[in-house]
Amino acid sequence: MSLNLPPRSDPCDGRGTPAAGAAGRGRPTTPGSVLSTAVPPRTVLPARVAPPAPVPGPPASAHGATSSAVAGLSQASFQYMAEFARTNAAIVLESGKEYLVESRLSPIARQQGHESLDAFVEHLRSGRAPADLRQIVLDALTTNETSFFRDFHPFETLKKEILPRIVQERAAMRKLTVWSAASSTGQEAYTIAMVIREHFPQLRDWTVNIIGTDLSSAVLKQAQDGRYSQLEVNRGLPAPLLIKYFAKDGDRWKVKDDLRKMVDFRPMNLVQPWPVLPPFDVIFIRNVMIYFDVETKKGILRKMRACMMPHSVLFLGTAETTVNLDVGFDQVSYGNTAVYRVGAAAKKP
Ligand SMILES: C[S@@+](CC[C@H](N)C(=O)[O-])C[C@H]1O[C@@H](n2cnc3c(N)ncnc32)[C@H](O)[C@@H]1O
Repeated sequence: MSLNLPPRSDPCDGRGTPAAGAAGRGRPTTPGSVLSTAVPPRTVLPARVAPPAPVPGPPASAHGATSSAVAGLSQASFQYMAEFARTNAAIVLESGKEYLVESRLSPIARQQGHESLDAFVEHLRSGRAPADLRQIVLDALTTNETSFFRDFHPFETLKKEILPRIVQERAAMRKLTVWSAASSTGQEAYTIAMVIREHFPQLRDWTVNIIGTDLSSAVLKQAQDGRYSQLEVNRGLPAPLLIKYFAKDGDRWKVKDDLRKMVDFRPMNLVQPWPVLPPFDVIFIRNVMIYFDVETKKGILRKMRACMMPHSVLFLGTAETTVNLDVGFDQVSYGNTAVYRVGAAAKKP
């Protein structure tokens, strides 16, 4: 089954490719939140993504289901779940990941009253499972690992190399727009907000928008709430920043309003048709493309490029690159960090 990245023109306003902005060129961008531009918020980024689809296929018994090494999940059920993850999120679950599917789905299957994982998977494949349950299952199959200042170096590069130049570039517009794509529970987006507040006080009266997107409604809810456990704030967040930008809220820490207002979280599935997005000065899309196959990565990078302006910068995860995937990007290294800009090759017809 193919993934069906939709054959549509690239949706952003940037000039990253010749086709860039085909769906939005000339759209006025007024000062204020990105989501309160001339376009109504839901048109820019919808409040929900399309629910995960059941995947067609014969029932488990027709596969001559045999038990896999992992008790409770037959190979046929595993294959079905792998197809479900691939079709709905482009996540590749190769053979050997049976333990992952079993450990993530078992609590849901139990909670739904199923005696075995196979019975639960059978319910999913029957087409009778409601959209909300399919969304919960898809959420469970995503890996949401993240932390504040994850990998440290990218944020040093952002602070020392990238933002000083972009601030100069955007001085006339006094507008900065950043995208944390696949933002998980929001630590990356709030980290960017803290870097801006700490080191670029002159942006206080600019229009600064940081947009976090993810397909998982569960992680988006936490990101929107801006509440983190002690364990989560212990991971990467320096104590002075914790005290300055978070307030104790029961046994959790809540992001203070000043920072919270800089960030907007929205659902977005990177492998479904993209909504109209504004051009971004900086894009972080880290530690998500490692889960995708080559064609999916290519499709996403091409669309990312269309969301970038000539001065824009793309950050990938340390295990990720555009090399051999998209010749339209030039890699620029700053010490330990590589970033990507739209290169001359992108402008060739
Ligand atoms: C490992 S986390 C990375 C979080 C953050 N970017 C970082 O580097 O710390 C990967 C995130 O990608 C999201 N994700 C997976 N597939 C996705 C898709 N097709 N569209 C949007 N988000 C997706 C998951 O829900 C998860 O929150």
